[in-house]
Amino acid sequence: MRHLLDILDLTVEEIEELIATANDIIESPEKYRDACRYKKLATLFFEPSTRTRLSFEAAMMELGGNVLGFSEASSSSASKGESVADTAAIVAGYADIIAMRHPKEGAPLIATTTSSVPIINAGDGGHHHPTQTLTDLLTIKREKGKLEGLTVGLCGDLKFGRTVHSLIAALSRYTGVSFVLISPDELRVPSYVKFPYIIDKGITYREATSLDDVIAELDVLYMTRIQRERFLLEDEYLRLKDSYILTPEKMEMAKKDLIVMHPLPRVNEISTAVDADPRAAYFRQAKYGKYIRMALILKLLAEADGEVYRFRDSITAKTIEHTCTNPRCITSTEQDIKHLFRLTDKENNIYRCVYCDTRADIK
Ligand code: NCD
Repeated sequence: MRHLLDILDLTVEEIEELIATANDIIESPEKYRDACRYKKLATLFFEPSTRTRLSFEAAMMELGGNVLGFSEASSSSASKGESVADTAAIVAGYADIIAMRHPKEGAPLIATTTSSVPIINAGDGGHHHPTQTLTDLLTIKREKGKLEGLTVGLCGDLKFGRTVHSLIAALSRYTGVSFVLISPDELRVPSYVKFPYIIDKGITYREATSLDDVIAELDVLYMTRIQRERFLLEDEYLRLKDSYILTPEKMEMAKKDLIVMHPLPRVNEISTAVDADPRAAYFRQAKYGKYIRMALILKLLAEADGEVYRFRDSITAKTIEHTCTNPRCITSTEQDIKHLFRLTDKENNIYRCVYCDTRADIK
């Protein structure tokens, strides 16, 4: 049984294959029209979405399959107190594959413990968003012709922006990539992303607070929204919400072949006056999301075998019980699950929560 919880669940070769399939679907959609006939995709969205949910549903429909699901927690039994584990077990009896979005980090991992069909993480809190990353990689490949050797600027909320975390993990596997991390000090990339995927891999990077200072260096500028719903204090959000606004004037300082990406929705971080610039790739990017999700559904259904898959090997290895302090972690709401931490850095004795990657306060 294959699930997709983290972009690194896929090898570089598998991502290449998915990109090739997506390109083939774009060229010859008629070949795929009946590929998933009689199959059902369930979209379990406990958190708002436009692109991710609708592109998943459109993807399944264009493969000849059917879709069912809910688009808010209040219309599901979660509002009556049903656990994620139970919801997944039940829905696996109604559908062949499940795409799940949840505000709690690690919720899709819990779903894999009871589901007999593949689970796709469609965004878990501020943690990961692997199918957005597949979309982003397809976009970069189509627009720049390659994934290697690019200087990629990530700008905005790099702390809570789950798309940024998954994209950094994915791009860190391509040679010659360098990162420019542009954020206010309070919203820098968390250490669970920065260490394994940037520092430990010796990848060239710099951190900046000003977009103007670095925009001229970039091949790709990935803008993000300040993630209001993840802040514990509204005042903190209000203080940071207008940190970056990309305007036509700033675009004048950028390379002629820059591409501007954004997972969307945008609030005000890209002025609408930028939309007419041919370098603005974000609407094309949103469309590519449907094709890469078609490719992913095909792959996971082909590899589904009906076995309930407990924990990933990396998770069962060397874990200890410890209470997670992250209020956004699934362990804060799900009943009867063990709070497990795995050793991620032997030298410094650092353990991280297996669900949300929060560091344990063990001395
Ligand atoms: C992103 C998400 O949900 O993380 N949106 C998306 O899936 N395209 C980005 C965001 O909400 O800011």
